[in-house]
Amino acid sequence: MANFPKGFLWGGAIAANQCEGAWNVDGKGMSVADVAMFKPNVDKKDYVSQWHVSPQDIENARKSQDEVYYAKRHGIDFYHRYKEDIELFAQMGFKTLRLSIAWTRIFPNGDEKHPNEAGLKYYEDVFRCLRKHHIEPLVTLSHYEMPLYLTEQYEGWASREVVDMFVKFSKVCFERYKDLVKYWLTFNEIDSVFRHPFTTVGIIEENYASKEQAEEAIYKALHHQFVASSLATRYAKEIIPDAKVGCMVTKTLTYPETCNPEDIYLALMDNRFNSLYTDVQVRGKYPLWIKKLWKDKGFQIPILEGDEEILAAHTVDFISFSYYMSMVQSVHASKREKVGGNLTTGVKNPYLDTSEWGWQVDPKGLEISLIDLYDRYQKPVWVVENGLGYNDVVQEDGTIQDDYRIQYFSDHFKAIARAIENGVEVMGYTSWACIDLVSASTSQMSKRYGFIYVDVDDYNQGTYQRRKKKSFDWYKHVIETNGSEL
Ligand code: BG6
Repeated sequence: MANFPKGFLWGGAIAANQCEGAWNVDGKGMSVADVAMFKPNVDKKDYVSQWHVSPQDIENARKSQDEVYYAKRHGIDFYHRYKEDIELFAQMGFKTLRLSIAWTRIFPNGDEKHPNEAGLKYYEDVFRCLRKHHIEPLVTLSHYEMPLYLTEQYEGWASREVVDMFVKFSKVCFERYKDLVKYWLTFNEIDSVFRHPFTTVGIIEENYASKEQAEEAIYKALHHQFVASSLATRYAKEIIPDAKVGCMVTKTLTYPETCNPEDIYLALMDNRFNSLYTDVQVRGKYPLWIKKLWKDKGFQIPILEGDEEILAAHTVDFISFSYYMSMVQSVHASKREKVGGNLTTGVKNPYLDTSEWGWQVDPKGLEISLIDLYDRYQKPVWVVENGLGYNDVVQEDGTIQDDYRIQYFSDHFKAIARAIENGVEVMGYTSWACIDLVSASTSQMSKRYGFIYVDVDDYNQGTYQRRKKKSFDWYKHVIETNGSEL
């Protein structure tokens, strides 16, 4: 099998809040990630509780300097070790690295007049280091790390002012990195607003009198992110003539349990909802059904004069997405065995294996997703997150024999190859995460994704030493042979 196109962008993905650490260094402000706790007593498949951050949690976190349970505060110390890590990525032959900029390093609270030079300089050094190794940066502007201050002093993204602050932050980044970064993503998994609103748009659900009011605020916040994303796309192109900007969504492919039309309808409704985000960011307008839904629910979404023109005028160049699992819908859901996932819980699919964290592994679903997205929009697609969380064990001889990960990637790469064979334009692939880091949902270190093992555990014990896993050389070979030997 050798059908990956020449120039295919092989690489890996990381996010600032999960790897950098250095949460209070060089003028950085607190972000929503710095208050997310590792909760060892919560079932690791109970993602709703793992993700949830209450006003009391925020207050406690503000007072605490702890870095053990607030694991994203230490990450894997990429902040100080990025040169060593990028050197390892280069050894694997990476063509690209997806990484994010922590907004709070540039604007610690979000609403300052002037950016923080130390933060700007840090990312400039990182991007220069990548360029030195001929690695193309793919930069996410917002990956679950908005300034905490904006969630407390404003209403998170439900406040219109946040649009201007984000656009200002984006413009500062484009100006500063225009010669270093060409590929940009605006919001990571923009669809996660409903799964974990605090982390995504800074909405504190307890601040609303009812569930419906919180839901309305989430839709407002989403609208503001759509507008901000379009404006950022506009400025990226004005400031960086060869810029390419993508949206980033979670592909939550849902299958019907049976051919019962009721099951098919339920799956269709889930998939339709999952298309809302790309419909807006790729087609440049809201589908009619969502406006009807707002009307039926009595929601007032502040679509200001000119907003719809902005959405229509500045659509994205490509579609990027994360893909980890598929879901199943059934009219008999209440009677069926359930599985977890950091996305949602659903009916167990008897044809699929499930990871230790309850994620249903489905390579064929990746092929289906690629075809589905490409056929819907005819825009290039890029898989920017995909990988297996596993509690890797270091053997007595110091090796990590992660054959399960090799199998996982091999199966998913074959799926991408088949989609390409089927006429889908795939730009690249960045695995999540190319180096072990702190889990977004559970704040664990033991949920490891990398080709590179990092010696630190769930309780921040360890040397932080990096070690190549078996999959390291395997992925190197995949890249060397452009996916022809899987
Ligand atoms: C995606 C996020 O949802 O899934 C990443 O964009 C995250 O930030 C990844 O790390 C894997 O999820 P988790 O919860 O296992 O870290």
